[in-house]
Amino acid sequence: MSIIVNEKERFFTLRTTNSEYQMKADGYGVLKHIWYGEITDGDMEYLIERPGLGFSGTIYEVGDQRAYSLDTKPLEYPCGGVGDHRVPAVLITHSDGSAALDLRFKSYCIKNGKYNIPQLPAVYGEETEAQTLEITLSDTASETEVILRYGVFEKKDIITRSAEIRNCGEKEIFIKKAASLCLDLPSGKWDWIHFHGRHAMERQTERAPIIHGIQESSSTRGTSSHQQNPSFIICSPDCGESQGECYGAFFVYSGSFKTQIEYDQLEQTRAVMGINPDLFGWNLKSGESFYTPEAVITYSGVGLTALSQNFHKIIRENICRGKYKLAQRPVLINNWEATYFDFDGSKILRIAEEAAKLGVDMLVLDDGWFGKRDNDCSGLGDWFVNEKKLKGSLVDLVENVKKLGMKFGIWFEPEMISEDSDLYRAHPDWAIAIPGRKPTRSRYQLVLDMSRKDVLDYLYDSISKILKSADISYVKWDANRSICDWYSALLPSDRQCELPHRYVLGLYELLERLNTDFPDVLFEGCSGGGGRFDAGMLYYCPQIWCSDDTDAFERTKIQYGTSFIYPISTVGSHISVVPNHQTGRITPFESRAVTAMAGSFGYELDLGSLSDNEKELVSQQIQSFKKYAPLIHNGKYYRLSDPMTENTALWEFVSEDKSEALIHGMIFRKIPNMKRISVKAKGLSPDSLYKIEGRSELYTGKALMHGGLLLNDIWGDYRAVEIHLIKDSKIIM
Ligand code: GLA
Repeated sequence: MSIIVNEKERFFTLRTTNSEYQMKADGYGVLKHIWYGEITDGDMEYLIERPGLGFSGTIYEVGDQRAYSLDTKPLEYPCGGVGDHRVPAVLITHSDGSAALDLRFKSYCIKNGKYNIPQLPAVYGEETEAQTLEITLSDTASETEVILRYGVFEKKDIITRSAEIRNCGEKEIFIKKAASLCLDLPSGKWDWIHFHGRHAMERQTERAPIIHGIQESSSTRGTSSHQQNPSFIICSPDCGESQGECYGAFFVYSGSFKTQIEYDQLEQTRAVMGINPDLFGWNLKSGESFYTPEAVITYSGVGLTALSQNFHKIIRENICRGKYKLAQRPVLINNWEATYFDFDGSKILRIAEEAAKLGVDMLVLDDGWFGKRDNDCSGLGDWFVNEKKLKGSLVDLVENVKKLGMKFGIWFEPEMISEDSDLYRAHPDWAIAIPGRKPTRSRYQLVLDMSRKDVLDYLYDSISKILKSADISYVKWDANRSICDWYSALLPSDRQCELPHRYVLGLYELLERLNTDFPDVLFEGCSGGGGRFDAGMLYYCPQIWCSDDTDAFERTKIQYGTSFIYPISTVGSHISVVPNHQTGRITPFESRAVTAMAGSFGYELDLGSLSDNEKELVSQQIQSFKKYAPLIHNGKYYRLSDPMTENTALWEFVSEDKSEALIHGMIFRKIPNMKRISVKAKGLSPDSLYKIEGRSELYTGKALMHGGLLLNDIWGDYRAVEIHLIKDSKIIM
């Protein structure tokens, strides 16, 4: 039983294999957060006793009990306006202009299986693997109800959260903020890890002590963004990969978000994550409900590796969907860095011919095949084939590629529109822009109003027409700008504040329709690389192009940051040419290969321009990726070094049964007469014997994990590391 209730005390415990989450509705009906952490088998309420503090008021009913303040108690879903002056989870304005909500316990129920959220992506699960707890809270004065939903995946150490705000009164209410998660940590000194960056440099890892006041990471870009990722980790100062306490959270949402972490007057920590209230407002009529997107949390008492592994498993098995969810992904060649906009059908076919000879599974035709699109100034929105440019039809090109034994994939950027396009000339009002103001251009393009049904229908019809016109197995779904100038021609003025969220709902609706109608197509998300790398998109696209930066050295850092939350199978990663197109850096072919193998693997270059020796390497790389792919994607992932601070980026995949492990990575810089670098394996069976593939020496699991292995001396910079460990049948005597 993962949900345990003591009815008399209104005491709720969510139990997973390695964690316990406690909350209690007290005599006043206030739902207090009691505990999240190690399993205690006890009621931890004694730990949240707080002194009465000046300027921390009391709720009316408590009389002279000065210590009873909403301002100092750990709470499950704190409301603004009624005496908790910390970051609120929910802010409601009523028809009389007052802004307050006083939520008290009303009822609860437990259901087998995992709840769904209307119109939104969410973690899903079998009846037998998850349970749902629903706690209904009510604000009597306004007859507003909030239903807190908790999904508990016991064996996966995962808890999900979402809230429904229901207007049970007669008058409309206005939701100014509706967070998905509030996590109060009543004691402890903590660090905060978050993932920041920019275009072509996403998810850089930053760790800092939490300080008094509020620190935040957020996006106001309409997308989850390159600049901050909708995820965070709170950990003890001594927390490392294999020791210490940590809490992780990610948001199943692709729009603007806000995470706020407050360290309050009593040195309690509160983390609140949800839709960014700076770009949000929602009018809720009598009888209507608003559903927040989902937040997913996990706790590990044994460091960051376990936290990441919990997230990897739930994302891979319970968020990603469809035919490719657990299937081996095709090795693909994408023409973008090989040709940019300068191609015709025969150039693409030449790339495909070379790729087919070397064992590539799929050719992806990137930007430039549609409308008038020879540069990034025109054409977006005109999703019909430019046969003049291709010098032939798409069907012929696809059929010719298929004759080579390869599949065919294609690029779209559905949410965007160029002013120089037939679509814009016909429907200028479909672009998001404020009447009387010139909209901001980015990459010369504007954004379609995805809250409109006519826009979604147009996109569905034009994309599905292309997908039906030829045998297309893959779609790269790009979105190359941040969104601003929010205004929809179809929304009344008091609902314009709803547009950013309605945009995301529209995007999800379109993706859902296409996923349903084209179940065999592999969708890969993209937003100028990894500008929308979030669990919301992963519900529709089981892989996302991780970054426009294909430089292997920088990629190790981008992929390192990404790995804290997202599984390897979701990381779109390719080998490109040197000097690299983003940095000019020259890295060895082998290092580019091991880096791209920590992902979906593919190529982004003209294979025809490679030397015979390099072509031979390509063919070997593809064979080794195919050999290792089950281990890479199904195995457990371990970070073995920190590329942000060390001279190496090293990581490891270990099979579930610990029978094999693959250590991959790169030594960044050669230093003359340098000391030999060693690497310690993780996750092996301590009392088994292992050998390195191709060699005969035997090592105990303990030796490899505690002593490690010396890496070969290197010559030159950015040298690849590859060690395949195989469990031996001999046993330790
Ligand atoms: C974005 C993508 C690239 C490529 C270009 C095409 O930048 O991230 O991979 O598809 O758009 O314009």
